[in-house]
Amino acid sequence: MSIVNVTIFNALLRFSISQILRFKKILSLPKINFIMEKFIELLKHRRSCRHFTDEAIDKESIDIILKAALMSPSGHRLTPWEFVVVEDKETLKALSVCKAAGATFIENAAAAIVVIADTTKSDVWVEDCSIASVNMQLAAEDLGLGSCWVQIRLRKDNEGNDAIDNVKSLLGIPEQYSVLSMVALGHKGRESKPFDESKLQLDKIHRGRFGNNN
Ligand SMILES: Cc1cc2nc3c(=O)[nH]c(=O)nc-3n(C[C@H](O)[C@H](O)[C@H](O)COP(=O)(O)O)c2cc1C
Repeated sequence: MSIVNVTIFNALLRFSISQILRFKKILSLPKINFIMEKFIELLKHRRSCRHFTDEAIDKESIDIILKAALMSPSGHRLTPWEFVVVEDKETLKALSVCKAAGATFIENAAAAIVVIADTTKSDVWVEDCSIASVNMQLAAEDLGLGSCWVQIRLRKDNEGNDAIDNVKSLLGIPEQYSVLSMVALGHKGRESKPFDESKLQLDKIHRGRFGNNN
């Protein structure tokens, strides 16, 4: 098969899967585990999604995304992360203004998974939470759902208040916890082009020694 045919085949496969998942409820089909395209295809298709439809995400899909988070590696296997699942519209609206920019679309997401950590458990909680955030994004893409990382740590709201404090007080998160991110989730309201491999920054790869890019 030529590259064009493979691309068309992949696009059709992804379209069929998302359509089947969309109509799964109507057809009353059990959860179907697809053997997805190669992992690299999943990486290419995971693009930040900031436009969602009004459709809710079924509990089974949320559970799969949470499983992906809980299967994430963590330093010394200390698993400092915890996850707050928010689906309530009013709370999503409040989260959308917990920082000055880059969070407004949370208001229209079907859900947000807030990634928090008990900072007394590990000195690498930021790294641990980052991996869990990305794993959830990949799981979402695997289910045909859209997602976007929303940064909370080191961010402030319009009044200069710390975004972490805003999220913590809104969700009743105890003192020793911090907040890394929120992963916005929903059915895609807009499709993004998959990552264009011609844009790979190959000059960032150094072979054997810094500066050797060949
Ligand atoms: C650490 C980190 C923080 C991010 N923070 C935000 C954010 O606050 N709001 C937002 O809309 N996107 C945020 N993003 C998404 C990036 O803007 C996005 O990943 C980047 O532009 C590349 O686009 P792509 O995800 O479609 O490949 C963040 C991504 C990362 C990894």
